[in-house]
Amino acid sequence: MPARPAASRRTVLRGAALAPVAGLGLTACRGAGDDGSAPLTGPVELGPENEVAKGGAKLYRESEVVVSRSENGALKAYSSLCTHAGCPINKLEGTTLICPCHGSEFDATTGKVLREPAVAPLKALTVEVENGTMVAGRQT
Ligand code: FES
Repeated sequence: MPARPAASRRTVLRGAALAPVAGLGLTACRGAGDDGSAPLTGPVELGPENEVAKGGAKLYRESEVVVSRSENGALKAYSSLCTHAGCPINKLEGTTLICPCHGSEFDATTGKVLREPAVAPLKALTVEVENGTMVAGRQT
């Protein structure tokens, strides 16, 4: 019978969890506000209104905003910063946003959490169309 390995997988994982993380250059999770608020500081132009199809959604990674359009044509916008630990969400499949850090999923049409560990919905933003261009901003 083979000898038991010196460090089981569980032991290694436990050790990794206890390792100090300060100073390791972890910049992906940069800390959303307690309410999941985005650091969006002012109105931001996203792109032409016709980029978002009815029943679809589009992720604007650089602006950290996701916009969806209902079947009746209404636009909605949410911050794409994950409410779990603030990672910028970089993946949109259909209308589902998937966080790269710990796998939380959100509905881009409602902002609601579809999969934990996040529990708070995405922060809603305003979205308006000005001369055919979508402009997102903080809700007041
Ligand atoms: Fe998105 Fe943890 S920061 S799931």
